[in-house]
Amino acid sequence: MRKYLIAGNWKMNLDRAASVQLADALAALYPAAGETEIAVCPPSVYLDAVRQAVRGSGVKLGAQNMYHLGPGAFTGELCSDMLLDIGCRYVILGHSERRSLMGETDAMVNEKTHAALAAGLIPIVCVGESLEQREAGQTGDVVRSQFEHSLAGLDESQMAGLVIAYEPVWAIGTGKVATPEQAEEVHADLRNLLATRYNSGLAEQVQILYGGSVKSDNASELLSQANVDGALVGGASLKADSFQGIIQAASQIAVN
Ligand code: 13P
Repeated sequence: MRKYLIAGNWKMNLDRAASVQLADALAALYPAAGETEIAVCPPSVYLDAVRQAVRGSGVKLGAQNMYHLGPGAFTGELCSDMLLDIGCRYVILGHSERRSLMGETDAMVNEKTHAALAAGLIPIVCVGESLEQREAGQTGDVVRSQFEHSLAGLDESQMAGLVIAYEPVWAIGTGKVATPEQAEEVHADLRNLLATRYNSGLAEQVQILYGGSVKSDNASELLSQANVDGALVGGASLKADSFQGIIQAASQIAVN
């Protein structure tokens, strides 16, 4: 049985005090690991402060990006060793904001994915179509192509060590959420790809998260879809109560 993973992507939000306050609140709510896996991905400068707040609790730490090489002369970048050193378990890779604003390509995401896995981090690799692509009926092709290229050259055990996040770009930060049917269609497609490229055992194992305007009031219906194994949450992860609502929705489905 796949566990749910609810991961908060804080993006470039909060200051140090607010990060620690939020992390403290979450650590108090989830003092030990439970049925639902929980992670927070703060801005990199606050990773250490957040780590101290969540240390020993059920809340795991993730970074929002990393470079595929290093340590070495790569000004402004962070490498896998540094993320491990600071206590990260996860790293988000290929988020659509990095793809569209920072020019990250599938090839770059692929290099980072290989590097993260080699270091023992769990990459959360993001895929998703733009509004134009969806309206042009290209969703399936776009997501399949991102899957093929961003995850190229991974063997079965590497694939078993990562998480995929489907984040339709048009649903990110817009308040527009994919319908449960739209999300499930892509998630099922991704799981079929895993089964075809690898095998059905592996396909059943890999967590596929949905991201894009997940809130406590829509989490339940999204997370009840057969192939939705959690959420990558932006805005609603910035407040303990709304993030908690999403975690509760997952936990309720898991026990039923
Ligand atoms: P929102 O939940 O704010 O739409 O952001 C989703 C996202 O991009 C998570 O990575």
